[in-house]
Amino acid sequence: MPLLEQPFSLAGRSAVVTGAGRGIGRGIAIVLASAGARVWVTDIDEAGTKATVEEIRSHGWAAESAALDVSDAEETARVADLVADAAGALDIWVNNAGIIGDAPPSQVSDEELLRVWHVNFLGVSHGSQAAARHMVSKGRGVIVNITTGGVDKPMDTVSAYTSSKAAAHQYTRSLALELAPQGVRVNAVAAGWVETGITRRHHDNDEVDRERTLQATATRTPLGFVGDEFDQAYAVLYLASDAARFVTGTVLRPNGGTSMPW
Ligand SMILES: NC(=O)c1ccc[n+]([C@@H]2O[C@H](COP(=O)([O-])OP(=O)(O)OC[C@H]3O[C@@H](n4cnc5c(N)ncnc54)[C@H](O)[C@@H]3O)[C@@H](O)[C@H]2O)c1
Repeated sequence: MPLLEQPFSLAGRSAVVTGAGRGIGRGIAIVLASAGARVWVTDIDEAGTKATVEEIRSHGWAAESAALDVSDAEETARVADLVADAAGALDIWVNNAGIIGDAPPSQVSDEELLRVWHVNFLGVSHGSQAAARHMVSKGRGVIVNITTGGVDKPMDTVSAYTSSKAAAHQYTRSLALELAPQGVRVNAVAAGWVETGITRRHHDNDEVDRERTLQATATRTPLGFVGDEFDQAYAVLYLASDAARFVTGTVLRPNGGTSMPW
């Protein structure tokens, strides 16, 4: 394989990021656009997608918005078709949209499991299948699934969430194996803790509690600081780029070292 002149450049590539109206998805959309991709910013929150698109365009980078509820397979396929038509190919698909719930494993209801799994697991399979159809037809493409470092350890409160993300890990590896001969790479980013809508929900109106959480998170992180959405996005950029041309079926853990057994 030749030496790559610009291994992290996404110039000329199209990319879709789900759940990109805020939080980590917004960071991913901005970073992929900064590397040269034309990014479709998608979310159920249309105001959020528009805000992210405006922010990307304010830097002079390329972005479009599309409403997308990832729990809807047909809508997801329509967005994939739209992007492939508009850009000539669908190069990068990032399954980032996710929701959380608080029920412990002994009490979680079927309704809660289905609610969370519908977005966090079925959303990943809808996006992956919609993207794979286009990528396989071109013999190239990259899918990145955002999971969580929470799958590495037992958690007694968010059972629907961690089970859906653990399933997404296994799905990532299986799909990577299936699509590798067809030139499509599939990887996951097990995101570390970032202050976003998901993590802020417990102390929305309590600044003291928020500061305490940030301090505790920094203290339990070997690198000593709390990462942000861009720290997750740079991992996605690596996996989406040709720098990772020999990488598939893997899980990257941008978390400041917290998954080390220390
Ligand atoms: N924040 C963290 O510490 C953390 C840690 C590990 C993993 N993650 C994962 O990162 C991803 C992004 O989460 P975040 O922290 O940015 O949360 P967030 O709540 O700030 O953002 C999630 C986004 O997904 C969108 N969304 C929700 N349901 C959707 C659906 N059905 N279809 C399309 N979009 C939908 C929301 O509108 C929102 O814009 C999630 O998959 C989450 O599980 C987050």
